[in-house]
Amino acid sequence: MVNTILIIAIIFLLLVLSMLWPPDSPWAPWWRTNKKVARAICRLAKVGKGDVVYDLGCGDGTALITAVKEFNATGVGIEIDPVRFFIAKNRVSFNKLNSEIKIFNKNFFDVDISKASVIVVYLVPKALGRLLPKFKKELKKGTKIVSYRYEINLPLKKHDKENEIRMYVI
Ligand SMILES: C[S@@+](CC[C@H](N)C(=O)[O-])C[C@H]1O[C@@H](n2cnc3c(N)ncnc32)[C@H](O)[C@@H]1O
Repeated sequence: MVNTILIIAIIFLLLVLSMLWPPDSPWAPWWRTNKKVARAICRLAKVGKGDVVYDLGCGDGTALITAVKEFNATGVGIEIDPVRFFIAKNRVSFNKLNSEIKIFNKNFFDVDISKASVIVVYLVPKALGRLLPKFKKELKKGTKIVSYRYEINLPLKKHDKENEIRMYVI
């Protein structure tokens, strides 16, 4: 009994810690995109059939699940945190989307992102700055990058001010 309480307390503390992670860390905290914002992201990027959406730091997979279920895209999620990876993977299976969405427990800096037609990011500015050279090197011309909340140092193509979403095109 005491052991169970201790384990629950540790998990709770880890969750709280992960939310309070310093915002200038390349490990962005666990703030998540809700369904309404995920839909707004897909609308802004005109996501549709044939699109391959990469969510870099996919968290629980909400943006990808929305892009696939409601906008007919396919998706790839990269998540470094094993707990969030596990949650995303299970949500994808629960929604029976295993053939449409692949989730990888990896560092996105080590993953080839050249097959993406749409990149979705909800990351702190420091991580976005570090990703910029990778975007320029790997993404094909015309790839859309949609960033929730934080700006990327690229020419802005579209801005949904109400939902704090910015779109850039390579
Ligand atoms: C602010 S959360 C956003 C989660 C999800 N994209 C969403 O919008 O709900 C940022 C996520 O990026 C992940 N992350 C940060 N750096 C990463 C890296 N280098 N490789 C893979 N995932 C990373 C974090 O673990 C966290 O889950």
